[in-house]
Amino acid sequence: MNGFTIAIDGPAAAGKGTISKAVAAHFGFAHLDTGLLYRAVAAKVLAGADAEDAARTLATDDLEDESLRTPAVAQAASQVASLPAVRSALLAFQRSFAQRAGGAVLDGRDIGTVICPEADVKLYVTASAEVRAARRYKELSDKGLEVTPQTVLADVQARDARDMGRADAPLRPADDAVQLDTSQMGIADAIAAAVSAIEGKLNQHS
Ligand code: DC
Repeated sequence: MNGFTIAIDGPAAAGKGTISKAVAAHFGFAHLDTGLLYRAVAAKVLAGADAEDAARTLATDDLEDESLRTPAVAQAASQVASLPAVRSALLAFQRSFAQRAGGAVLDGRDIGTVICPEADVKLYVTASAEVRAARRYKELSDKGLEVTPQTVLADVQARDARDMGRADAPLRPADDAVQLDTSQMGIADAIAAAVSAIEGKLNQHS
């Protein structure tokens, strides 16, 4: 399955991380959560580093830290992600990951539009802001983080506005993306829909 690339984009907390992991496991492909790259850069910036330097010197170990999952890091990630120098420093790593032998799944905001415009399958996973905020609230409060439904919704809306409104690589569905609205779907159904969209393309590929 050399170079078979699956691009999964969508706004915060739409379910693309869960779907991407499940799809990668199903097809035996490698998975890269590209949001973690921006989160790791943001964590370094919050610790005092320069954003571009942090992006240029990022190491795979930097992606392991559990603290990258906090709302403060998410907001800072959305901010550093609007800097063209940061985005271009992270481009080559993502493109080479996408080309790895054995197939790759990348999830993020600009995979189908900028990083891998030639991806074999593109999915755009979305859901209403209210549904996404409710899911993220549950996830964060289950982890013991002190959040309220109102602040989580405000965070989701602020990130949507920033990620969709930036000049460089804004979040939008690629013209040839299959759109999956998970607002009314359980996770098993969303995974099944993604797997079936991918299977169709995979059969044409082999
Ligand atoms: O997917 P996530 O919530 O972990 O992403 C965190 C932030 O990183 C997101 O708000 C915008 C940015 N990001 C991006 O600009 N491009 C990507 N491919 C992935 C994430």
